[in-house]
Amino acid sequence: MHTLHTIAQVRAAVARAREEGKRIGLVPTMGNLHAGHIALVEKALQRTDYVVVSIFVNPLQFGPSEDLDAYPRTLAEDQSKLLDVGAQLVFAPNVGEMYPEGMAGHTRVSVPVVSEGLCGASRPGHFEGVATVVSKLLNIVQPDLAIFGEKDYQQLAVIRKMVLDLCLPVQIMGEPTVRADDGLALSSRNGYLTPAERQVAPLLYQTLQAIAAEVSAGRRDYAQIIEEARGRLTEAGLRPDYLDLRDAHTLQPVSAQAEELVVLAAAFLGRTRLIDNLRFIPAL
Ligand code: PAF
Repeated sequence: MHTLHTIAQVRAAVARAREEGKRIGLVPTMGNLHAGHIALVEKALQRTDYVVVSIFVNPLQFGPSEDLDAYPRTLAEDQSKLLDVGAQLVFAPNVGEMYPEGMAGHTRVSVPVVSEGLCGASRPGHFEGVATVVSKLLNIVQPDLAIFGEKDYQQLAVIRKMVLDLCLPVQIMGEPTVRADDGLALSSRNGYLTPAERQVAPLLYQTLQAIAAEVSAGRRDYAQIIEEARGRLTEAGLRPDYLDLRDAHTLQPVSAQAEELVVLAAAFLGRTRLIDNLRFIPAL
């Protein structure tokens, strides 16, 4: 496994792999890899012959008061995990390589509608930053397949829409969230939790499960269900940012036609912002 830091080196390595007839996979990450990321790499290795994992903490997707500086950077540990799993190439550019003229005047990719609301409402500019860096990574690596985690459900929807609208020749695949034994979705940001907060954190997923169970049992007073669930989170010390039920395919508010729903949440626990979601088929 090689680690390369420049776009030119990555393009040359991928071109060689392609000349050998290999199918190329890409797993974009911000590093600090956990079992959820490794599951994405394993899936990419099953589906393609040459897997590139990008590790880049993208400043363009962080707001001014967010955790860009604190975000864990653990390249050596990440490389050792990727070597163990069998990835072929790590692309670990620095900020200057990705934004050589700075970010202020850089071209942005914006995906309206699906980027609005939910995380888009509380993190203005976040999805523009994500769509911009992902489109750059797709253009640099030109993979046949790129894989993303479903934990970032809205992000996946934004990327799918961008790829569709811009006719990018790549297949996008989402992979189910990997959870700790107590249900907490694995996330690089879980490392910010204190031991006491870590005990409380699984309540977020339990709350999503409870909402899905109530709707599946036939309750249709969605606003009331959400209100009650928000109350339970707040009582336990979480500060809900949003908690919402949406059509799982369009991410629009639930309509009578919706065949699959998704309940999505973001909540602060101390200084940590947790996000999670659960897809389910509502009762008829
Ligand atoms: O999900 C992430 O880790 C990031 O948002 C991504 C897709 C790697 C873009 O920076």
